[in-house]
Amino acid sequence: MARKHRFETRAIHVGQEPDAATGATIVPVYQTVTFTQDEVGKHKGYEYSRTGNPTRAALEECLASLEGGRFGFAYGSGMAAVHGAMQLVSAGDHVVVADDLYGGSFRLFSEVLPRYGVRFSYVDATRPDEIDKAVTPETRMLWIETPTNPLLRLVDLAACSEIASRHGARLVVDNTFATPYLQNPLEFGAHVVVHSTTKYLGGHSDVIGGAVVVDDEELARTLQFTRNATGGIPGPWDAWLTLRGAKTLALRMREHEANARSVAEFLLGRPEVERVHYPGLPDHPGHELAKRQMRGFGGMLALDLAGGEPAALAFCAATDVFSLGESLGGVESLVGYPWSMSHAAFPAEAKRRKGITEGTVRLSVGIEHPEDLCADLERALKAAATAG
Ligand SMILES: Cc1ncc(COP(=O)(O)O)c(C=O)c1O
Repeated sequence: MARKHRFETRAIHVGQEPDAATGATIVPVYQTVTFTQDEVGKHKGYEYSRTGNPTRAALEECLASLEGGRFGFAYGSGMAAVHGAMQLVSAGDHVVVADDLYGGSFRLFSEVLPRYGVRFSYVDATRPDEIDKAVTPETRMLWIETPTNPLLRLVDLAACSEIASRHGARLVVDNTFATPYLQNPLEFGAHVVVHSTTKYLGGHSDVIGGAVVVDDEELARTLQFTRNATGGIPGPWDAWLTLRGAKTLALRMREHEANARSVAEFLLGRPEVERVHYPGLPDHPGHELAKRQMRGFGGMLALDLAGGEPAALAFCAATDVFSLGESLGGVESLVGYPWSMSHAAFPAEAKRRKGITEGTVRLSVGIEHPEDLCADLERALKAAATAG
């Protein structure tokens, strides 16, 4: 399927030609470890499913197309994908990291990879001059997320790729929050895109997975080699479920965004709410940048409750349609408490520096009816007001 087609068409068709052996319209789940060879070394392109599997290959081709890259690599989780991208650096290398990042990535960067001789510096990447200052002669990678988790801050992709390229480093963008429907970092000069496909790409909170997409052939060779050497692949069923989810990404993202906008407007001006963080609001500090580098504002938002921790805990316990739980990006709405859930890995002062407080609540707005969502939040705000 040609890459000239539009996003919605590519999501449904790229990598998903009718099955060559049977004509099956939907990519089959190739639940096999090995592939029978006609003679030693004579086979149909597959030998062993860690190295390559047709169901996984379909997902990889599709994700690469959605991100506008030539090469996709699926992993067994978002963290395996983060680790996979990190295998592009070696002992002695230095990585500049945007300090507003997923707690699990921070845990890997602060507690695991330094044992292998990789060094990390953390900067406020919303100020590109800070990145420039942190670069050393050993810097080989710049790692950012945009919009960030949980406060939806925007980082300038073009400015970061200019800095990375000027210093001979690679820009890696974790594009999980934006999704390829709303943002394609490779278009802005990023070298590597990372996803937790567990979130919007899978979209139904029923499969853990990750992906890395690149356009550069040499990077692709290294990623294929290291993933085969380290083994962090998804199984064929998980690849299939993720591919099925990805087909409807565009539809879901439009609904997520419309609902997030309704929720943001509902929360604005409420006395229990000190601040609403949503890039679609004109007074959000990243609003103009979001308009330049994204095709929409997404389905995530955060709010600061005036009553601090007691109000936030009461709010999280009182919702009914919004399930209290880790994760985001599924069709069902989720509420989370970054202070002790998604951002537990960060020390308290680091959270405060980022603007996360004991009153911050994160919402992953699903695709239920917006009036049901707002009625649920009305109940939660009442509970917050009583507790705060
Ligand atoms: C931005 C981001 N990157 C990576 C990950 C890790 O993904 P996974 O949970 O699939 O390992 C997450 C998980 O929440 C995330 O939010």
